[in-house]
Amino acid sequence: MNLSNNLNKILIIDFGSQFTQLITRRIRELGIFSEIVSHNKVKKANIIKQNVSGIILSGGPLNVYEINKFNFDKKILQLGIPVLGICFGHQILSKELGGKVKKSNHREFGLAEIKKVDNSKLTKNFFNKKNKNNVWMSHADQVSKMPKNFKVIASSKNSKLSIIENHNKKFYGVQFHPEVTHTNNGKILLSNFVFLICKMKKNWSSKDQKLKLIKEIKQQVGNNKVICGLSGGVDSSVVAQLLNKAIGKNLTCIFVNNGLLRKNEETEVINTFKKKLKINLIYVKAEKEFIKKLTNVYDPEKKRKIIGNLFIKIFERYAKKIKDVKFLAQGTLYPDLIESKSVTGSQTSKIKSHHNVGGLPEKMKLKLVEPLKFLFKDEVRKLGLELNLSKNIISRHPFPGPGLAIRMPGVITNEKIKILKEADYHFINELRKSNLYHKIWQAYAALLPVKTVGVMGDNRTYEHICLLRAITSEDGMTADFYNFDKKFMQNISNKIINNIKGINRVVYDITSKPPSTIELE
Ligand code: XMP
Repeated sequence: MNLSNNLNKILIIDFGSQFTQLITRRIRELGIFSEIVSHNKVKKANIIKQNVSGIILSGGPLNVYEINKFNFDKKILQLGIPVLGICFGHQILSKELGGKVKKSNHREFGLAEIKKVDNSKLTKNFFNKKNKNNVWMSHADQVSKMPKNFKVIASSKNSKLSIIENHNKKFYGVQFHPEVTHTNNGKILLSNFVFLICKMKKNWSSKDQKLKLIKEIKQQVGNNKVICGLSGGVDSSVVAQLLNKAIGKNLTCIFVNNGLLRKNEETEVINTFKKKLKINLIYVKAEKEFIKKLTNVYDPEKKRKIIGNLFIKIFERYAKKIKDVKFLAQGTLYPDLIESKSVTGSQTSKIKSHHNVGGLPEKMKLKLVEPLKFLFKDEVRKLGLELNLSKNIISRHPFPGPGLAIRMPGVITNEKIKILKEADYHFINELRKSNLYHKIWQAYAALLPVKTVGVMGDNRTYEHICLLRAITSEDGMTADFYNFDKKFMQNISNKIINNIKGINRVVYDITSKPPSTIELE
């Protein structure tokens, strides 16, 4: 679980807030290593063994008096390590130290104005010239009485104890969420906590990360052979190159063509990895095997499981051929773990059998190497550049492991795959031509499982609907749809309908995430 026990870190104790991952991100953006752990699992004894320079207690959906629903070892607060409580974390910190929490008369959701009451290291450069700040609140309960020896640093109209502190003991509580961008100068507040209060020094850059990860891979796999599932996407490419640097000849990459790839993907992957990077690469043509297994399957979760399982079977088949392979490397990222099943075991609910995580059979014979599992996408991209991967690979839009299968709700057929590949190809080409590709975090075409009537050349048509999705995002956890101008939309709609037989209608997905997800399934 621990990326590195010997790195100084900010430990984020998760109480199930949807923003917990954002806190980690913000801390890492400050150049500081941080890790999330569940309030259920962390004990004083674990913390002593690690180099924890500061603790953040996250928000969460609970009420501090629902004691049977959580299990927080309050001895953690006696370690002398600085603690910052955020929202629920602020309430639990106050309660455990002898304060009181009660239901607010006015629940606060959204922006609120807080006013400075006293000076604090935590709020250096945080308030505006009028000693005020706009912050983002999301709470029903609030601290009604501070613990002993605490003082108020800021108040809002409805929450008098918006920021409180016990400077000597280094306990700090904020009722709002400094990690979300709606809070003005939230990053400054977190930076003050990390640098001024925890007195940490930067220890998290792409270069440090690269060296550390290479060392850890060497330690984990020793002289054993490793196979790596390569998809040509950013994550698996970075994993392959990391392993290549760490263990060279003991690495064999396996690139499985499941028939659900983007147009020309197989040629590009072979050219890059076999020819340019000189990595051992086995190319497995398994289109028929996948399509056979997916025949008449329309349930999204089933599709994901079937594809995941078959990938692993194929990897195991090839591992046998190579002989003595002990490990399988995968490009699992932090959000994958969080969205598949909460990484911490806290209240976050399961959204999809995501990514590489959901499909793995329980009794898999190969052990996993997942060097990126604590990183966010943008961190992986920076790491890829550090590993000398070309910008072309690094800046590609993400592409999901189950591929086009989850972009055609309903049953999968060869005919639909063929149509979809072409539609996606045209869409992405137009984005590149219009210099929009890099402004967009991810874009793709999908095929909806309904046909509609159209008229082409005076004839009635009855064809598929192509759905286009293009989103902006920071890390895929939340997303907004991209706002194309009408000319672009007209052009792409014409291109797709004129060039691809089988589509007579193009629609654009205008939902954000949440409430939708990025992929359709
Ligand atoms: P969702 O659809 O959950 O997707 O909003 C978030 C990001 O994850 C990608 N994604 C996957 N990536 N294997 C992957 O490697 C998967 O099973 C998978 N499912 C979703 C998706 O493309 C988006 O970038």
